[in-house]
Amino acid sequence: MGSRQHVRDIQSGPPLPYTDDIRAYKKEYAEALDAQDPLRSFRDEFIIPSKKDLKRKTLAAEDDNETSDPKSIYLCGNSLGVQPRSTQKYIERYLRAWATKGVTGHFVSHEDELLPPFVDVDTAGSKLMAPVVGASQSEVAVMGTLTANLHLLMASFYRPTKEKFKIILEGKAFPSDHYAVESQLRHHNFDPKEGMVLIEPENLDKPTLSTEQIIKVIDDNASSTALVLLSAIQFYTGQYFDIERITAHAHSKNILIGWDCAHAAGNVDLRLHDWNVDFAAWCNYKYLNSGPGGMAGIFVHERHGRVDEKQSDSDVTFRPRLSGWWGSDLATRFNMENKFTPQTGAAGFQLSNPSVLDITAVVASLEIFNRATMKEIRQKSVNITGYLEHLLLKYPLDASAADKPFTIITPSNPAERGAQLSIRLQPGLLDRILHSLEENGVVIDERKPDVIRVAPAPLYNTYAEVWEFCQIFLEACKEAVQAR
Ligand SMILES: Cc1ncc(COP(=O)(O)O)c(C=O)c1O
Repeated sequence: MGSRQHVRDIQSGPPLPYTDDIRAYKKEYAEALDAQDPLRSFRDEFIIPSKKDLKRKTLAAEDDNETSDPKSIYLCGNSLGVQPRSTQKYIERYLRAWATKGVTGHFVSHEDELLPPFVDVDTAGSKLMAPVVGASQSEVAVMGTLTANLHLLMASFYRPTKEKFKIILEGKAFPSDHYAVESQLRHHNFDPKEGMVLIEPENLDKPTLSTEQIIKVIDDNASSTALVLLSAIQFYTGQYFDIERITAHAHSKNILIGWDCAHAAGNVDLRLHDWNVDFAAWCNYKYLNSGPGGMAGIFVHERHGRVDEKQSDSDVTFRPRLSGWWGSDLATRFNMENKFTPQTGAAGFQLSNPSVLDITAVVASLEIFNRATMKEIRQKSVNITGYLEHLLLKYPLDASAADKPFTIITPSNPAERGAQLSIRLQPGLLDRILHSLEENGVVIDERKPDVIRVAPAPLYNTYAEVWEFCQIFLEACKEAVQAR
C-alpha cells in the first residue's frame, strides 16, 4: 500500500480532534482526548524531566527521579527523545553480565538476561527495529552512527562513472549529509560544484519542495546522476516526502536512491521494503529514545543484500562494500581465514562488534515500540499534531490569522508531515519567546534565525500538554510583540 493511501486510511479512521465548537478550546476537551487515547498508558514508560530538574544547577540525586514536581512540557522528541524508564534496568543488567561473566558473556545465555549473549546482541536490535521501519529483519542492522553509516552506504551505492557521477540532494539538507555527499564526490575526484545537484525551494517563505519539483530535478539530470540522497522528513520544515513515488521515479531513470530517516524512524509509518527503497540510514536518539549519540540503524533492500553462489566455482558474489569482520558470515567469522563472505542482508554491512552498552539502550526503547504498532503511533501523531496546528491557528478565537506573529511552514496536509510543526516567527521575536517558554518549563528547539520546532511525540506527549503549550506560546507571542 502506498504512503499516501495509508494516510487516507488513517483519515477515514476515528474522527480527528478538530472542531470549531467553543468547548473544544477548553482544557477539559484536551483532557477528554487524553482519556480516550488508546496509547495513554505509554507515557508512564518514560521519564519526563520535571520543571525543577531543568532549572537545577546540578544533576538530580538518583532518588529524586520520581518526585511529584510538575513535569516540563517536553515537545522535543524530534531532537532528543526522553529516557525510557526501562533503560536503567537494561543497562544495569548488561553491566552485571559483564561484571559477573566477563568474556564468557560473549557466548553463554543466562536465564535472567534481557538481551542475548554479547556476540548475538545485534540480532536483538534488528528483530525489534524491522517492524518500526517497515522492513524484514534481514534488511536492517543496528550499528554505528548516522553520518558514518551514510558514508558506508554511499561507499557501496555511489559507484560513479565519468558520465554518471552526480548526487542529487536537498539544498537545505542537514549539514552532515551535505558534507558527507561533498566529501564522497571529492573522494572520487569529482568537483562538488559539478557533482552536487541541490534542490532549492522555489518559495523561501514556504521552503518546502513539491514532489513534482523533485521529479523534474531528477529528470533534468537523469543521464549524469548516479545517486539521489534525500531526507524522509526534512529536519527544518518537517516536510515528509513521498518516498514511494520519488523512489519509483528515480528507479525509472536507472538511478539508485537512499533516504536519511533521522526524523522519520519511530515517527511515521515507514514501509521501506514495500516502497522499494535501495538503502536508508537513521539515528535512534530522536523519536526512538536511545540516548544522545546512541547507536544508529541502516536498511538495505533485500535485493542489494543478497549473497549468491557463483555457478562455475565455489565463490560467492555480493554487492561491493567496505567490510569488517562483523559483517562476515557467522559460520566462518571466527575462523580467522581472511576470506570475506558477508552475511546476507544489512548485517553484512556491519564492521565492528557492536557496543553492547549502546545497543542495550536501543533495545530498551524498541521493546516499548514493539508493544504498539507504528500504525497506531502514526494515528495518534496525526491527531495530536493536527490538534496542535488547530489551536495555534484558531485560538484565541478573536485573533485573525493576520494578527498572528508567526506562520507554520510545515505542510498542513497530514500526509506530508510527521509529528513536528516548524513555526516561523516574525523577525526579532525569537529570543524573547524562547525565554518565556524556558521560564515556563517548555522544551522545544530553535533553528536560527526565526524558526522553532515543536514535536508532540505520540508515546509520551498528551493533548493537555499541547493545550498548555499553546496557552504559554500564544501569551509569549503577545508579550514579545508588545515589547518589540
Ligand atoms: C537529518 C539528519 N542527518 C544527519 C544528522 C547527523 O547525525 P549524527 O551526528 O548522528 O551522525 C542529523 C542529526 O541530527 C540529522 O537530523
